[in-house]
Amino acid sequence: MSVRGTFSTSSLNCCGFRPGGRLGRHRHRGSVSGYVLEGSWRYLDYDWVGRAGDFVRESPGRTHTLYSENGMKTFFWLNGPLEFLDEEDRVIEVVDVFWFINHYESHCRQHGLKVNERLYL
Ligand SMILES: [Fe+2]
Repeated sequence: MSVRGTFSTSSLNCCGFRPGGRLGRHRHRGSVSGYVLEGSWRYLDYDWVGRAGDFVRESPGRTHTLYSENGMKTFFWLNGPLEFLDEEDRVIEVVDVFWFINHYESHCRQHGLKVNERLYL
């Protein structure tokens, strides 16, 4: 069987952390672009600190952990899945665009909200 067409594994999300928030150690299978809207955050693995107005790009294959001491909001454009890793770099979970869709729709169902179908254009 052959499959034709354009495949997109991109997703956009606005990630918000409360003070002390963290996104576990993960590796990207595709590139990521981000724009810091509020607050600040950093990677536990590097010196760089992202502050409101900063742009960030993460390359495929990079592994890191995000942390925000005082809270933040960042708009991310993810290309490809994220692999969450344990302490020995074993993949423990893969999060892709379908995971985000399921997460969003589950949240809507839980809170009696209508799913915005226009998000899937
Ligand atoms: Fe990342």
